[in-house]
Amino acid sequence: MADISVIGAGSWGTALAALLYKNGHRVTVWSILQEEIDMLEKEHEHKDKLPGVKLPEDMVFTADLKGAVKGKDILVLAVPSPFTRSTANRMKEYVAEGQIIVNVAKGIEEKSLLTLSQIVEEEIPQAKVAVLSGPSHAEEVGRGLPTTIVVGAKDKETAEYLQNIFMNEVFRVYISPDVLGIELGGALKNVVALAAGIADGLGYGDNTKAALITRGITEIARLGIAMGGHFETFCGLTGIGDLIVTCASMHSRNRRAGILIGKGYSMEEAMKEVKMVVEGVYSAKAALALAQKYQVQIPIIEQVNAVLFDGKEAGAAVKELMIRDKKLENSDLAFDQFIS
Ligand SMILES: NC(=O)c1ccc[n+]([C@@H]2O[C@H](COP(=O)([O-])OP(=O)(O)OC[C@H]3O[C@@H](n4cnc5c(N)ncnc54)[C@H](O)[C@@H]3O)[C@@H](O)[C@H]2O)c1
Repeated sequence: MADISVIGAGSWGTALAALLYKNGHRVTVWSILQEEIDMLEKEHEHKDKLPGVKLPEDMVFTADLKGAVKGKDILVLAVPSPFTRSTANRMKEYVAEGQIIVNVAKGIEEKSLLTLSQIVEEEIPQAKVAVLSGPSHAEEVGRGLPTTIVVGAKDKETAEYLQNIFMNEVFRVYISPDVLGIELGGALKNVVALAAGIADGLGYGDNTKAALITRGITEIARLGIAMGGHFETFCGLTGIGDLIVTCASMHSRNRRAGILIGKGYSMEEAMKEVKMVVEGVYSAKAALALAQKYQVQIPIIEQVNAVLFDGKEAGAAVKELMIRDKKLENSDLAFDQFIS
């Protein structure tokens, strides 16, 4: 049994707290919001973020960060990506040398273009940082529906330790050393999910969705590989796997925001309506800057940026994608390599 604190009490933090408790660990949940802690202590359920998932009586809820961090075996960092740096900065004085932090949020910081684990490493250099990612909507994990996910860590020992901590018969955990690839897949799929939502909002069909998912993962992999991620990772659970679920599911806030934008809402109106942090909006700008830095083409993500930030009409963005220069499907498969 491990002593674990979940830092951040939103949908995902709450679902993981419930899962880890079921796995036999001692679990503390921290939130910056005192009223959220009061509500969790009283209700033993997060009625706004994860209704229907009961949390046990002996789970500890606290707004005291020092108490939540000091001496724990594992810290699960589950705050939405815009709060990763500020939360890590608050935590750093309490984190011991070699203490394990598992970041489960998904995003790229717009200003620094760093992934979230890189931010945590920058803020808390004494920590051992790992990540957990894959197709895993909190609403389904909270209900115990089966899924598969990946722990990424630089060393195998940490990865295997965390695999044992999180894994159970409905939550199958693989391990991988490609931390960067995992994080880029998780962050960039939110931008493509906005595009998938926009296509739904415009009234397009399943063919359009399949095209966006397939060409979307091509862009994600192209950028991710240029940055040092591995092709195999983008073909796996944290790449195409997470992209499929995010583009298809109504649990995805990025897709829901996209649907509204496709129906004519502005980005601000859509964010207000969804009432949650739409992380793809932040990652979209970062992805564009990264593509410029690494000189790779990401036409779908470019058009998402134009719709979000330049007021481009969504239908016009789709048209532009359709009439781009004619290309090979895969530039690695040139005709002169195929001898008939
Ligand atoms: N929800 C999911 O299904 C899911 C699944 C996998 C990964 N994720 C990732 O996990 C991360 C968290 O997602 P979520 O769905 O739990 O988000 P959420 O919107 O439910 O999180 C809101 C919570 O963030 C915390 N918070 C609010 N303001 C804060 C601040 N200023 N500083 C620190 N904490 C603050 C509070 O506990 C609040 O309840 C995201 O990066 C998301 O992409 C989510």
